[in-house]
Amino acid sequence: MKARVFVSAPLPGPALAGLAGRAEVVVGQTRLGLEDPAFARAADSFDAVVTLLTDRVDEARLGRAARLKVVANVAVGVDNVDLEACAARGVVVTNTPGVLTEATADLAFGLLLCAARRVCEGDRLVREGGFTGWSPTMLLGARVHGKALGIVGLGRIGQAVARRARGFGMHVLYAQPRPLAEGLARALGATHVSTKTLFAESDFVSLHCPLTPETRGLVGGALLASMKPGSVLVNTARGACIDEAALARSLVSGPLGAAGLDVFEDEPKVLPELVLRPNVVLTPHIGSADRETREKMASMAADNVMAVLEGREPPNRVR
Ligand code: DGY
Repeated sequence: MKARVFVSAPLPGPALAGLAGRAEVVVGQTRLGLEDPAFARAADSFDAVVTLLTDRVDEARLGRAARLKVVANVAVGVDNVDLEACAARGVVVTNTPGVLTEATADLAFGLLLCAARRVCEGDRLVREGGFTGWSPTMLLGARVHGKALGIVGLGRIGQAVARRARGFGMHVLYAQPRPLAEGLARALGATHVSTKTLFAESDFVSLHCPLTPETRGLVGGALLASMKPGSVLVNTARGACIDEAALARSLVSGPLGAAGLDVFEDEPKVLPELVLRPNVVLTPHIGSADRETREKMASMAADNVMAVLEGREPPNRVR
């Protein structure tokens, strides 16, 4: 009998067709995910689930999926999965690291540039007929070249952002619990500092840390208040790393000058105070959304599923 795999939503590329040749695949409807009746009513019939970052995999859900052997998350972040509950039930959890590094770094740098140079404000102005003539004082933004970029979490994506920053002549500070090996940090031109120093001394701050109990709400009122006047905050990590209400306040009364946000505390909801601010660039969690990346993420998840179902070590087990 073929193993049964529930895939939370249609995925781009040929991965699901490949999986369907080797297992019985049921694909849920976009945005219903594990709430889809095809899963919810028959959870105990599936051997594997391919999940998205919007699917909560918790003890209650695992309890209804007694046959489950693997949760293959189509994301590098696994904060939507209760890892301890999975481990206790012997359910393997996998993710898709590495492949989305450059795509996410591209978007982070794009948000940084857009927020600093007021690209979206300019776009709106032109579309609304407000560009009635060139002026030397129109839409003055923040200089990027040569400025200090603080990276919170210099893992794969943080390092890819640091490499881009070098091309802009930026000086990179980074904060994380343990410093990188000296040679690697030197090659990236990155200096290890405390989180407090990073926020106080950077012109731009970009978050690249995972969401953990330690990083939840990390960027709150105190850190925001310590930032340089006119500085720019970028978040392509997880929304809950920032206290959004404090962020909105800082964007109104300073010191923050602008923000670029791809992720939000309570997605897909976005705080109205942020939506109303002209000095915030907002994107709908598309850090990894270039076609090649998303197709590769899907095929990695499919490979992880088949490895576990065939009794092999999956390429991307989360430890
Ligand atoms: C991830 O992989 O964790 C991103 O947020 C989605 O691509």
